[in-house]
Amino acid sequence: MSDSLFSRRHFSRTLGSLAVAFTVPRLPLRLDDKLELTASENTIHLNFNENPYGPSPKALQALDSCGPVAARYPHNTYLQLTDALAKNYGMSRENIALGCGSTEILRCVDMAFLGPGKNVVAAQPTFEAVLDYARITHADPVKIPLTADHRHDLPKMAAACTSKTGVVYVCNPNNPTGTIVTREELATFVPAVPSSTLILVDEAYFDFAEDPRYGSVAEWTQKYPNLVIARTFSKIYGMAGMRLGYAVGAKETIARISEQALQDNGNAAVLAAGLASLADTEHVMSCRDKMNGTRSWLCSELSKDGRSFIPSQTNFVMIDMHTDVQPIIDQFAARNILVGRRFPSMNNFLRITIGTQQETEMFVTALREIAPARVSQAA
Ligand SMILES: Cc1ncc(COP(=O)(O)O)c(C=O)c1O
Repeated sequence: MSDSLFSRRHFSRTLGSLAVAFTVPRLPLRLDDKLELTASENTIHLNFNENPYGPSPKALQALDSCGPVAARYPHNTYLQLTDALAKNYGMSRENIALGCGSTEILRCVDMAFLGPGKNVVAAQPTFEAVLDYARITHADPVKIPLTADHRHDLPKMAAACTSKTGVVYVCNPNNPTGTIVTREELATFVPAVPSSTLILVDEAYFDFAEDPRYGSVAEWTQKYPNLVIARTFSKIYGMAGMRLGYAVGAKETIARISEQALQDNGNAAVLAAGLASLADTEHVMSCRDKMNGTRSWLCSELSKDGRSFIPSQTNFVMIDMHTDVQPIIDQFAARNILVGRRFPSMNNFLRITIGTQQETEMFVTALREIAPARVSQAA
């Protein structure tokens, strides 16, 4: 992090503590990561869990022909996408809120349910946006370490929820570990959390999970008004640059979340692309097959090399390098291969996003040169 960035953040926090009642302007999340990107055309992006195959051709076609919707405020396109999503979940449009990426949903949840004197319970490590935004509401973080097998410790997380807990965040599958909690485990967890606490289940990587014990809990939101699901078009739909995500929940909960969103927060062209993507189930299946196939290939190469890694249900894999990974990350960057950042509390683990098969093969070749395997391939 640069000094100037630090001092701006520090200033922002100081300002925040002086003016609790006001929203504190904030720098974009993970700006320090973004500054590291000096990507050239030949750069291989294995750092942000994106889909290397990109959006559905139908989404690109929708962008190409977005002229008529682009001229108007996005109300109609917004409702069309909301209705299409609601139909998929067997719900009504009041059960869905759209966001500028699911990050906006996470932020709106924090703004609606946190504040001074409140706390947010989350796993450590997990996707940090909820904790970052909680900070600007002046809520306290309560971090519950993952279990020995790198999964959310749901019993401990439920026990940590008190009358002060505004939000408990369950990232399922979890970023950065790629691990899941099962539906059965969630079935015990959800009723164990006080009804005054909003349970936010982030299913960003839902489409990559293959474990039969895994499943969405979106339909439970109709029974539990304090349960909300976040989903994104950034991962399997390959639309990370377009910024589109959504929440599923009970009407009154969605209304509270929506109050925090920007008015007209949907971009009409992006909404049209989202609508087209949603209808292209073939593209989703083809991306899933390719990326999960490459994930299996990567894991078998890692096993051949005698490396340990965390079995993943997502489009990324955490490899245990048994040493601090920052120098390794830097060596990959010198070869134009961007890999995941170093995660506090898991300093020895390297997070690799699944790229195309060819990109992933290039990663494995580079890995063997940068950090030669402890067991020979012939073994
Ligand atoms: C678990 C999780 N949730 C949410 C997001 C944010 O996604 P977006 O804002 O692009 O929808 C990410 C991005 O990497 C993520 O890993």
